[in-house]
Amino acid sequence: MDRMRGKVAIVTGGARGLGGASASALAAEGACVVVADVLTDQGETKVAELTADGGTARFTHLDVRDADAWARVVEETVSAYGGLDVLVNNAGITLPRTIEQATLDEFKHVMDVNLYGPFLGIQAALPALIARGSGSIINVSSNSTEMIVPTTTYYAASKAALANLTKTTAVHVATQGYEIRANSIHPGPHATDMLADPEVARMPHIQRMRETVPLGRFGRPEEFGQLVVFLASDESSYITAAEFFIDGGLTRVSYANERGSR
Ligand SMILES: NC(=O)c1ccc[n+]([C@@H]2O[C@H](COP(=O)([O-])OP(=O)(O)OC[C@H]3O[C@@H](n4cnc5c(N)ncnc54)[C@H](O)[C@@H]3O)[C@@H](O)[C@H]2O)c1
Repeated sequence: MDRMRGKVAIVTGGARGLGGASASALAAEGACVVVADVLTDQGETKVAELTADGGTARFTHLDVRDADAWARVVEETVSAYGGLDVLVNNAGITLPRTIEQATLDEFKHVMDVNLYGPFLGIQAALPALIARGSGSIINVSSNSTEMIVPTTTYYAASKAALANLTKTTAVHVATQGYEIRANSIHPGPHATDMLADPEVARMPHIQRMRETVPLGRFGRPEEFGQLVVFLASDESSYITAAEFFIDGGLTRVSYANERGSR
């Protein structure tokens, strides 16, 4: 349980769901973990859980859309734990709309959280990662970059842009000679609050995905947490600018959209 010993990680959206599972997995492997979220009560509870299990963790309130808050969080992290090694840009939202239902204001809102949030995070964290001499940036995208569903107008666009932001960042930092890696994770459906949201849960595609996923079930958050640990740790030292699909094989299934479905 020492794969992350001596490393410091910030996990956005770390209060629950996939971010919460990532925080748990990183702490269990010895990392000092900063749980950064807009959900204060759930974030504090998560930190209490991690410390009760023998981990080292703190909660900080962060709205990923706020550049000043990002500067504060990185500064607090470095002063609490002596540096920063890992940034997990996991916070994200979805608003299911087709192109006919979509509005520009809602689109901008999703982009603010899912794309500009991670952008601000990378910019805030980079100087600390460079000062540390190495680091890993993990951006949580989605398998919706490949698997096209009509109601993911905002979401799929934001996640595809995030995947490419990951790659331009990765190639830039590598060619500057920094030992910093950047990779994106592309989950398929996992059992979290995001999927339980009634607006999301009633999407017919979610039901069909459950039936067609080759491994026969949705993902468990702790399985996602293990991939985060791998990409955060030195075990993945030659992996950068890569996309990791964790979806039980779902993206590889030929999946025709039905005419007239919403
Ligand atoms: N669950 C899935 O099936 C699934 C599939 C593909 C991708 N993802 C992605 O995985 C990530 C985590 O999703 P989840 O299922 O755990 O969702 P979730 O809704 O359970 O958790 C998201 C977390 O992000 C936080 N958050 C939202 N907006 C924020 C903001 N502006 N600033 C800071 N924190 C904010 C929330 O408070 C919450 O704790 C997201 O980026 C999501 O798009 C999830």
